[in-house]
This record gives sequence, structure tokens and C-alpha cells, in this order.
Amino acid sequence: MALSIRRDSSLGSAPEALVFADGFPEIDTLAEELDNEFGVDQWVEVSNTSADQALAQLGGNTSIAIVTASADMPQAIEGIAALIRKARDAGLLVLLIVGEISSRSMHMLLKEGVADFAPYPEPEGALTEAIERLRFVRASGNQSGVGLTTSALQRRGKVLTVYGVAGGVGASTIAVNLAWELATLVRKQGRKVALLDFNFQYGSVATFLDVPRREAVYELVSEASSFDQTGLAQALSTYQDKLWVLTAPRDALPLDIVTPTDVKAIINLAREAFDYVIIDMPQALMNWSEPVYTISDDFFAVMEIDMRSAQNMFRFLRTLKAESMDLAKLVFVLNRSPGMTDLTGKARVKRVAESLGITLGHQIPDGGKAVVNACDQGIPLAEIAKSNPVRKEVLRIAQRVATEDATKAASSG
Ligand SMILES: Nc1ncnc2c1ncn2[C@@H]1O[C@H](COP(=O)(O)OP(=O)(O)OP(=O)(O)O)[C@@H](O)[C@H]1O
Ligand SMILES: [Mg+2]
Repeated sequence: MALSIRRDSSLGSAPEALVFADGFPEIDTLAEELDNEFGVDQWVEVSNTSADQALAQLGGNTSIAIVTASADMPQAIEGIAALIRKARDAGLLVLLIVGEISSRSMHMLLKEGVADFAPYPEPEGALTEAIERLRFVRASGNQSGVGLTTSALQRRGKVLTVYGVAGGVGASTIAVNLAWELATLVRKQGRKVALLDFNFQYGSVATFLDVPRREAVYELVSEASSFDQTGLAQALSTYQDKLWVLTAPRDALPLDIVTPTDVKAIINLAREAFDYVIIDMPQALMNWSEPVYTISDDFFAVMEIDMRSAQNMFRFLRTLKAESMDLAKLVFVLNRSPGMTDLTGKARVKRVAESLGITLGHQIPDGGKAVVNACDQGIPLAEIAKSNPVRKEVLRIAQRVATEDATKAASSG
């Protein structure tokens, strides 16, 4: 049985996508769009009757199956459901393109575990976005993308930024461990976390998690506006396949190599693909610090109890006020806070907080050598020093973030 192939040239070169579009009324405009998305010879149309043969002969490059559904007859929907199953079993990511079908049919098809779906022909751009997301799933090697429904893929991640007002106050330690705790907490709900090291010069996230710095990081941070999800996926490393990490580039870059536009583009790409985006900020304030602050949902300002931190915090707050920034998103964190028995220390904390006019949201005690060791070995505290007081407090921060969202989701729907 011959395949119904729109272009013979596609046969030999293992096209990126197989397209099942029997009876799809918009096939001509769809074909044009697919030419633009994949390239003329990187997709091939296969008739439903030839599906088995085509799926049995898959070439190395073929990773996407596009399945269309336009007729709302139960039999047709059953046939499409079977097709989706077959394509999935063959290891393809299935993109469902739907015309005018009922929500009941839609529900039936989504249950088959498509990786994503796009209505067609409206809204404009939905197809492009869906293909980009599939490429992201594929490039990140995250086969669990299969079976995700659209709501899981069209994420609008929450942005949590960690900023140390003085050098060495523990911002990166907190960012890394917060990201890990959160990733562990929300994983069961199919939620994903990304950690972005914006300390482009001497970022330590790669060291603290012992992950490789990918070659693609440099291009991403220096010209992010021209990148898509595939570009982001290529620049990310993973820690134990649970946490996605954008490390600093291999070579130390001037902090101003990135523009505010690039920074916004990186965050937006990450927010589309992840539920939580944690940013480790450098201490120096750059022209792109303001957009990061504005985009952040929570901004953790980390300090210690010494005069240097107090003075810097004072200046930082003054800058924010001068720029009329929203102060409500600030969460003040005191690291290496004095222990329960250190009464003088406690009194000092109270005095400093009062003089700055702030309320400390979290106080993280000194965790001793175990913290430095964990950082040096590139392992999160939860994995190596579970009951360390630093780990316990960071876990509390993560729990607060995760439950806040769960509560919001429950009350909104
Ligand atoms: N609460 C803590 N108890 C013990 N050690 C800590 C604590 N917080 C951070 N450290 C250690 O202090 C060192 C500096 O921390 P970290 O690199 O996280 O600070 P930073 O604010 O990111 O510094 P930089 O200004 O270099 O970016 C690390 O070795 C870390 O392990
Ligand atoms: Mg740091």
C-alpha cells in the first residue's frame, strides 16, 4: 500500500513530522503553514489507511505526529483516538489540530494523551506556538511531555527572584536549595521548576548543583530575543531530571552583555515552559535589574545582620522607592540569623529590622560547614544534609510558595 504523500521528496529524508489530515477542510492553508514551520520536505501527509505502514517505517528524524480532527461523528472520533494511540506507541509526540468539534469529542481525544493541541485555523499563531512547545519537550528529552494536556504545557510560570544585597550573604545557596525543594514538592502535580543563573560573570549555580555549563548558554543570553523554546531547551542543563538549570556561561561575561530585552525574552521563554522560574540575581544593579524586578512575583531580598548588609538594604529600598517600584512583592530574608540563645543577636535583629522599616519574612540560621560542603560537592541540602537547619527553613519557604498557589487555584476554580 502506497503512502499518500504530498511530496515525494519527503520519503527518503525522514521528515520531522507525519501529518494525518484525511478530510480536513483547511488542508491547503494548513499545508502552507506547515511548509513555513517545518520546511517543505520536513513533513509528509499520510492517509489514515496507511498509518500502520508509515509508523512502522519511522526514520530517525521523525518525532512529531500531527493529527487533525474536524468531523464530529462518533466513528470518526474513535478512528482518530486510535490513530493518536498508535502514534504515541510509535514514540511520537502527538499534536492534535482541531476544527469544529464538540467539547465531548475533544475530551475523548485529549484523554488519549496528546502532547498538545491547537485549534485551527483560529486563533492565529496557536499552531506555531504548539509546535514550538513540542520542540521544547523533545529537545529537553522530557518524554513525560507525552500525555500532558494543554493546560500543563501552556504554562505561565511564577517568577521568584533571589537577590543578595551584599556579596556572599547566601543568595545562591538559597536560590539553589529553594529551587530543588520546590521541584520536589510540585513534581507530583506535574509541575516543573527552572532555575536561572543571572550572575553571568561568576555565577555559582553550576558549581552548587554540579551540572555542566552548556555551549548554547552564551548565544541564548547574548541574543535571547531571537530564540524560541528549542533554543532555551538546548541551553538548559538538568539536575537529576527534576530541575532545569540555566547556568552562567563558561566564560565570564560582562554583566551588561545582556540587554533588558534579552533578559525579558529569557524569562518569558522560561515562564512558558515552567510553572516556577527561580532567578539568582547578581548583587550589582544593572539596566536589566528593573525589568526582572517588575516581572518577579516574589522578590527575596537576602541580608545578614552586619552593618554592610543593613546599609546596602537601606540603599536598595531607597532606589526602589525612588523608582516607585511595587514594594509589596519584597520578601526579606535574614541569612545566618542569630540562634535562639543569642539574646544580644536577637535584639540586634529587631533593631535593624525596625530601623529599616521592614518585617523579616524568613530567618535562616547558620548551618555550619555542612552547608559549604553541600555547595562544594554540588548537592542540594535535602540530599546530603536533610535535617540541617538551613534546609529546614528553605523547605518552609518552598512549602509556603507551593501552598499559596494551591490555595489560590482552589479558590479560583
Ligand atoms: N546559612 C548558612 N550557613 C552556613 N553557610 C552558608 C549559609 N548560607 C550560605 N552559606 C555559605 O556561604 C557561602 C556563600 O554563599 P553564596 O555563594 O550562596 O552567597 P551569594 O550571596 O550567592 O554570594 P555571591 O555574592 O558570591 O553571589 C557558600 O559557601 C555557602 O555554602
Ligand atoms: Mg551568588
